[in-house]
Amino acid sequence: MAIKYLGSKRVLVPVLGDLLAASGAGTALDLFTGTTRVAQEFCRRGARTTAVDLATYSEVLAQCYVELDAAAVDRAEIVDALEHLESLPPVRGYITETFCEASRYFHPKNGVRIDAIREGIDEHYGDSWLRPVLLTSLMEAADAVDSTVGIQMAYLKQWARRASNDLKLKVPELTPCAGKAVRGDATELVHSLPHVDLAYLDPPYNQHRYFTNYHIWETLVRWDAPECYGVACKRIDSRDPATMSVFNRKREMAPALAQTIKSVNADVVMVSFSNEGYVPLEDLVEMCKARGNPVEVLAFDAKRYVGSLIGIYNPSGDKVGKVSHTRNTEYVLLSGEADRIGDMASTVLDRTQQFSRAGSAVS
Ligand SMILES: C[S@@+](CC[C@H](N)C(=O)[O-])C[C@H]1O[C@@H](n2cnc3c(N)ncnc32)[C@H](O)[C@@H]1O
Repeated sequence: MAIKYLGSKRVLVPVLGDLLAASGAGTALDLFTGTTRVAQEFCRRGARTTAVDLATYSEVLAQCYVELDAAAVDRAEIVDALEHLESLPPVRGYITETFCEASRYFHPKNGVRIDAIREGIDEHYGDSWLRPVLLTSLMEAADAVDSTVGIQMAYLKQWARRASNDLKLKVPELTPCAGKAVRGDATELVHSLPHVDLAYLDPPYNQHRYFTNYHIWETLVRWDAPECYGVACKRIDSRDPATMSVFNRKREMAPALAQTIKSVNADVVMVSFSNEGYVPLEDLVEMCKARGNPVEVLAFDAKRYVGSLIGIYNPSGDKVGKVSHTRNTEYVLLSGEADRIGDMASTVLDRTQQFSRAGSAVS
């Protein structure tokens, strides 16, 4: 289970996992990890993975799913802690007042339980290895009963049907292979992170800010009861430039991305991008070529999960093949040694063609 998230690679996750496996990578970096879905898949494929993001909630998700090794933890301890938190008496606190009364993101019957559980986590498990697991469980449980369309810039006029369900804490499905969670700015960290076999970059595509779109998760994890403003009850520090990302600024985004792609210390780099993003595909190809390796471009129909190889660039940078723009396309650009990325591309194309032959539609 994972929270609803703009630009989440839900559909592409198995393909990205196949790409990693075909590359033979034993170490990996997910530089804009968000929900950590992709990093989780890398862990499941046995790669020692580092997951990076600016967001505080994302760091907690990575501490739960990427840092912990499922084989090394006691699941019974998690079950006991969740049962304990479920039994706490309701509390009318910040979440209830802000997100159930001043706005309507959660039904008040769930708001008072979120408040009680969140208080309980720090009171009883503040210094425990369980803390990120419990916070993850709470975020996912709250997400399952929210009244939004998946972003927190607004709530629905009429309650979503799921909002009347009772909040239920579940045990997060931990992954094998202990990795690392890092919170910080990718454009800075990229210069100091250790070498990995494969790095995956899935930056924001446009002006939509994750800090404001997921302000409730930021607050739930920080638990700092910020002053808020507007109908959406956003955190007051949303206005602070320190909470803004260069990737949401149209003019600054392209040079920042170019520099990040060039600097990342990896043998193979995979970059995800959408045809609805700020940067045209041709520019993105140039950014990858600046690493001095051949580049291959895979395109996936975002709804139908059909893949095709739409461009091949030889080591001297000449383009072989035709780029075709289709509606709602997810691109995955591969940069690395020619044979290696060639093997990666053919592996996933075999797989996605099977999907398309069978007529499967996965969305
Ligand atoms: C397209 S989303 C990634 C989605 C992710 N692959 C998934 O499947 O959930 C982009 C992510 O980049 C993060 N981000 C934005 N600016 C950043 C920066 N300068 N450094 C690190 N992360 C950043 C956002 O918080 C967001 O989680």
